[in-house]
Amino acid sequence: MKIYICQVCGHLAFNNLPDTCPVCGAEKDKFLQNDAIFKESSQKSPEAEVKHVPAVTVNKSSRLIPESGCTEVIVRIGKVMHPMEEKHYIRFIDAYQNDKFIARMHLTPLGVYPAACFYLKEAEGKITIVENCNIHGYWKFEL
Ligand SMILES: [Fe+2]
Repeated sequence: MKIYICQVCGHLAFNNLPDTCPVCGAEKDKFLQNDAIFKESSQKSPEAEVKHVPAVTVNKSSRLIPESGCTEVIVRIGKVMHPMEEKHYIRFIDAYQNDKFIARMHLTPLGVYPAACFYLKEAEGKITIVENCNIHGYWKFEL
Protein backbone atom coordinates (compact mmCIF):
# COMPACT_ATOMS: atom_id res chain seq x y z
CA MET A 1 0.00 0.00 0.00
CA LYS A 2 1.16 3.51 -0.81
CA ILE A 3 1.41 5.85 2.18
CA TYR A 4 1.73 9.63 1.86
CA ILE A 5 2.64 11.75 4.90
CA CYS A 6 1.60 15.38 5.29
CA GLN A 7 4.73 17.23 6.40
CA VAL A 8 2.60 19.95 8.01
CA CYS A 9 0.27 18.01 10.35
CA GLY A 10 1.46 14.41 10.13
CA HIS A 11 -1.70 13.06 8.53
CA LEU A 12 -1.30 9.84 6.52
CA ALA A 13 -3.10 9.32 3.22
CA PHE A 14 -3.44 5.72 2.00
CA ASN A 15 -3.22 4.64 -1.67
CA ASN A 16 -4.01 8.04 -3.23
CA LEU A 17 -2.37 11.41 -2.82
CA PRO A 18 -5.14 13.90 -1.90
CA ASP A 19 -5.40 17.32 -3.58
CA THR A 20 -5.23 18.92 -0.16
CA CYS A 21 -4.69 17.47 3.31
CA PRO A 22 -8.11 16.66 4.84
CA VAL A 23 -6.78 17.62 8.28
CA CYS A 24 -4.80 20.84 7.78
CA GLY A 25 -5.53 21.87 4.18
CA ALA A 26 -1.90 21.70 3.02
CA GLU A 27 -1.35 21.32 -0.73
CA LYS A 28 -0.36 18.05 -2.43
CA ASP A 29 3.30 19.03 -2.66
CA LYS A 30 3.55 18.98 1.14
CA PHE A 31 3.12 15.18 1.16
CA LEU A 32 6.07 12.78 1.11
CA GLN A 33 5.64 9.12 0.22
CA ASN A 34 6.95 6.56 2.71
CA ASP A 35 5.28 3.16 2.36
CA ALA A 36 7.36 1.73 5.22
CA ILE A 37 6.42 4.28 7.90
CA PHE A 38 4.79 1.73 10.26
CA LYS A 39 7.56 -0.79 9.77
CA GLU A 40 10.16 1.87 10.59
CA SER A 41 8.46 2.72 13.89
CA SER A 42 8.22 -0.90 15.02
CA GLN A 43 11.77 -1.70 13.91
CA LYS A 44 13.19 1.32 15.74
CA SER A 45 11.40 0.41 18.95
CA PRO A 46 10.17 -3.20 18.89
CA GLU A 47 9.74 -3.16 22.70
CA ALA A 48 7.41 -0.14 22.36
CA GLU A 49 4.65 -2.12 20.67
CA VAL A 50 2.65 -2.83 23.83
CA LYS A 51 2.43 0.91 24.59
CA HIS A 52 1.74 2.09 21.03
CA VAL A 53 -0.41 -0.28 19.02
CA PRO A 54 -3.98 1.02 19.41
CA ALA A 55 -6.18 -1.32 21.47
CA VAL A 56 -9.59 -1.16 19.81
CA THR A 57 -13.08 -2.28 20.85
CA VAL A 58 -15.92 -2.22 18.32
CA ASN A 59 -19.56 -2.16 19.47
CA LYS A 60 -22.38 -2.60 16.99
CA SER A 61 -24.51 -0.11 18.93
CA SER A 62 -23.89 2.89 21.12
CA ARG A 63 -25.36 3.95 24.47
CA LEU A 64 -24.62 7.58 23.59
CA ILE A 65 -26.65 7.66 20.34
CA PRO A 66 -28.73 4.46 20.42
CA GLU A 67 -31.24 5.86 17.87
CA SER A 68 -28.57 6.05 15.15
CA GLY A 69 -27.68 2.39 14.84
CA CYS A 70 -24.07 3.54 14.64
CA THR A 71 -20.96 1.49 15.17
CA GLU A 72 -18.96 2.62 18.17
CA VAL A 73 -15.18 2.33 17.93
CA ILE A 74 -13.37 2.79 21.24
CA VAL A 75 -9.60 3.24 21.20
CA ARG A 76 -6.89 3.34 23.82
CA ILE A 77 -3.13 3.62 23.24
CA GLY A 78 -2.04 0.85 23.92
CA LYS A 79 -2.61 -2.38 25.88
CA VAL A 80 -0.31 -0.84 28.50
CA MET A 81 -1.33 2.80 28.51
CA HIS A 82 1.09 5.17 26.81
CA PRO A 83 2.42 8.06 28.93
CA MET A 84 1.08 11.58 28.37
CA GLU A 85 3.92 13.85 29.46
CA GLU A 86 5.18 17.08 27.91
CA LYS A 87 8.24 15.33 26.52
CA HIS A 88 6.56 12.13 25.41
CA TYR A 89 2.93 11.88 24.35
CA ILE A 90 0.42 10.80 21.72
CA ARG A 91 -0.19 13.72 19.32
CA PHE A 92 -3.27 12.39 17.55
CA ILE A 93 -5.47 9.38 16.82
CA ASP A 94 -6.83 9.13 13.26
CA ALA A 95 -9.66 6.86 12.08
CA TYR A 96 -10.11 5.44 8.56
CA GLN A 97 -12.78 3.36 6.94
CA ASN A 98 -11.80 1.39 3.85
CA ASP A 99 -8.53 3.37 3.81
CA LYS A 100 -10.44 6.66 3.64
CA PHE A 101 -9.77 9.19 6.41
CA ILE A 102 -12.90 9.91 8.50
CA ALA A 103 -11.86 11.57 11.77
CA ARG A 104 -9.02 12.85 13.91
CA MET A 105 -8.74 13.23 17.67
CA HIS A 106 -6.08 15.81 18.58
CA LEU A 107 -4.49 15.32 21.99
CA THR A 108 -2.40 17.50 24.28
CA PRO A 109 0.21 16.03 26.60
CA LEU A 110 -1.42 17.19 29.82
CA GLY A 111 -4.96 16.67 31.03
CA VAL A 112 -6.11 13.69 28.95
CA TYR A 113 -5.40 10.00 28.58
CA PRO A 114 -4.50 8.71 25.10
CA ALA A 115 -7.94 7.45 24.19
CA ALA A 116 -10.77 8.28 21.79
CA CYS A 117 -14.19 7.15 20.63
CA PHE A 118 -15.54 7.33 17.06
CA TYR A 119 -19.17 6.82 15.97
CA LEU A 120 -19.39 5.40 12.46
CA LYS A 121 -22.41 5.83 10.22
CA GLU A 122 -21.55 2.73 8.19
CA ALA A 123 -20.78 -0.58 9.84
CA GLU A 124 -19.24 -2.15 6.75
CA GLY A 125 -15.63 -2.28 5.75
CA LYS A 126 -12.11 -2.16 7.11
CA ILE A 127 -11.45 0.09 10.08
CA THR A 128 -7.94 1.44 10.58
CA ILE A 129 -6.79 3.39 13.61
CA VAL A 130 -3.49 5.28 13.33
CA GLU A 131 -1.73 6.99 16.19
CA ASN A 132 1.33 9.19 16.29
CA CYS A 133 3.71 9.37 19.25
CA ASN A 134 6.02 12.41 19.28
CA ILE A 135 9.01 10.13 19.97
CA HIS A 136 8.11 6.67 18.64
CA GLY A 137 6.31 7.59 15.44
CA TYR A 138 3.38 5.92 13.70
CA TRP A 139 1.48 2.80 14.82
CA LYS A 140 -1.72 1.28 13.57
CA PHE A 141 -4.46 -1.21 14.23
CA GLU A 142 -6.57 -2.73 11.47
CA LEU A 143 -9.85 -4.60 11.71
FE1 LIG B 1 5.91 6.72 22.73
